[in-house]
Amino acid sequence: MDSPQHDRLLIIDFGSQVTQLIARRLRELSVYCEIHPFQAVTQDFLNGFDPKAIILSGGPASVTEADAPRPPSWVFSRGVPVLGICYGQQVMMDMLGGEVVSGDGTAEFGRAYVTPTEDRIALLDGWFGDGAEQVWMSHGDHVSRLAPGFEVYGTSPNAPFAITADLDRRFYAVQFHPEVHHTPNGRTLYENFVREAGFTGDWTMASYRDEAIARIRDQVGDRRVICALSGGVDSSVAAALIHEAVGDQLTCVFVDHGLLRLNEAEEVVGMFRDHMNLHVIHAEEQERFLGELEGVSDPETKRKIIGRLFIDVFQHYADQIDGAAFLAQGTLYPDVIESVSFSGGPSVTIKSHHNVGGLPEKMGLKLVEPLRELFKDEVRALGHELGLPASFIGRHPFPGPGLAIRCPGEITREKLDILRKADAVYLDQIRRHGLYDEIWQAFVAILPVRTVGVMGDGRSYDYACALRAVTSVDGMTADTYPFSHEFLGETATRIINEVRGINRVTYDITSKPPGTIEWE
Ligand code: XMP
Repeated sequence: MDSPQHDRLLIIDFGSQVTQLIARRLRELSVYCEIHPFQAVTQDFLNGFDPKAIILSGGPASVTEADAPRPPSWVFSRGVPVLGICYGQQVMMDMLGGEVVSGDGTAEFGRAYVTPTEDRIALLDGWFGDGAEQVWMSHGDHVSRLAPGFEVYGTSPNAPFAITADLDRRFYAVQFHPEVHHTPNGRTLYENFVREAGFTGDWTMASYRDEAIARIRDQVGDRRVICALSGGVDSSVAAALIHEAVGDQLTCVFVDHGLLRLNEAEEVVGMFRDHMNLHVIHAEEQERFLGELEGVSDPETKRKIIGRLFIDVFQHYADQIDGAAFLAQGTLYPDVIESVSFSGGPSVTIKSHHNVGGLPEKMGLKLVEPLRELFKDEVRALGHELGLPASFIGRHPFPGPGLAIRCPGEITREKLDILRKADAVYLDQIRRHGLYDEIWQAFVAILPVRTVGVMGDGRSYDYACALRAVTSVDGMTADTYPFSHEFLGETATRIINEVRGINRVTYDITSKPPGTIEWE
């Protein structure tokens, strides 16, 4: 638990798919909040956390079942405002003396419209425009009798108790999900709730930067920190922050595995070493990686080789740094949140992601993870605060195994060279058309087939490539970007004219799922 100097809001999670969105909406309002699963909220925890307000999330369970998850009753006796959302509303009513019923034909999924009652309360200030407000519902059960003290302030056709409140106790309960995109004015509701709870919006990146620096200094003392710098936003911001805190006590290792994009190594090392004065070791290990990958075409084998070599190489350089006691990592809040799982059981490994997991124990290093409390957009804001150029902060994600997973089949130096050039032309096209920031990730994959073409008066027999561009929020799901035919045609022409070795360009129109973003 961190940031005790801020007003804090506690989100108790009952396993909704969209609980993280509640936290994001609140962070956008400069309110510090944390998500904790309902099982973890003991009385000691609550006393330690000392929330100024509490939100009960949605969830897939039914309060009508005997073993339904419940928050501890202390939640309602602390004297702080509580907002229950969907399942949170139902569990609140149930525990406070109301009634919830299951499955009598009043389930509601998707868009619905809530109409206000006569009385307008502060929670709804500025919310209802000309009448009904669009909201997003997702419930099978519904409240059939309100708990004592509650009144209705909004109704929908299938949810007569869509918005209810006990104003004396500052308890609010809504049946819909104000945090999702399909409740267009949901933010207003959160804004009113935190204002009513007395939050001052004291969570800003400027204050976070100062506090994080103080904490890093405190943790590290006069010892040394090492950091695997990938050039991605997370490791870059973590490195810049730690450098500001402990200066030369930080050494970064940039592993060049020969699978980087055109000019990438020069750009990353140049910026951190020459412009920001960080101590960066440029580990030129192309031969080793490409040598071991020779003749390998199985995607998982490629990933495992790269992951193992990465750790070996990093350890080799780290061993030469005298007195290294800490390993810096750009872990983000979504990786830390302990999510409530009702399905249980291990999930299937789709791809082995490579990282430096396991290294800290092996090398006897402690972790410095200064971004553990932040969402991606907050990391970008912090990077901005730290003076990293906007072009760097807004870069598309790039996977650890690099171009290896964009070169299905055997990796050869020839293919990598062609791929790098085609990728550079494609990204240049995207930038020229002002599309870079609208796209989550765009890249070229070189296909393991040669096809016949006709160029000038001659026959060509060269590689085909695929362009990929997706929109996404977190990389977990993705849609293809709807380029115009003109854009695609112009890009194909440029790639074929400017890159020797490619004579056919295709556009990958697979969403995720069923596809993945990368080709391997
Ligand atoms: P997929 O292909 O699984 O990718 O849909 C989702 C996101 O993750 C990135 N990615 C990786 N990032 N190490 C990384 O650091 C990896 O091994 C890795 N594999 C995929 C991918 O670029 C996309 O943004």
